[in-house]
Amino acid sequence: MDGLKERIHKAIHNQPQPTVTILSSLLAVEDEIGYIPKEAVEEVASFTDTTANDVWAVASFYPNFRFQPPCEHQVEICWGPSCHLVGAMSLIKSVLDTVGLEGEGDTQDRMLSVRYNTCLGACAQAPVISIDHHLMGRLTPEDASAAVSRALSQGGTGDQATEDA
Ligand code: FES
Repeated sequence: MDGLKERIHKAIHNQPQPTVTILSSLLAVEDEIGYIPKEAVEEVASFTDTTANDVWAVASFYPNFRFQPPCEHQVEICWGPSCHLVGAMSLIKSVLDTVGLEGEGDTQDRMLSVRYNTCLGACAQAPVISIDHHLMGRLTPEDASAAVSRALSQGGTGDQATEDA
């Protein structure tokens, strides 16, 4: 068994909860490796005694599942109510302009992905973004653009990027 298949196998077989479903298995895989590869669909189907079509149906229903490896850096921009009121749309525009995207998605060089989030759980710090899982709050559009540029210039694995909110 190669490394990827082994990690998929372990993620699916080591779920701690008593009730295991297609969805819980997909979430376990996404938590472990950050996306749902084709191999995982087959393994989940076998483990849950369903078909690959059943698994694809569940996986494609939820927009948050990724089917490609994650980019080097992940930016999440909150556009929930609190952030919306204090300028989230300006932050979104600023970040998208900085990385050359027109909306949510991955840059062509796969260095960075941008996703919108309905609440990053730090409303008191609005407007909030997260870069590589580090929250940053009370940002101006210029701050957000600079933070994203800084993360990109640091390269690396994406876990050393930013200051906390
Ligand atoms: S609405 Fe943006 S952090 Fe909660």
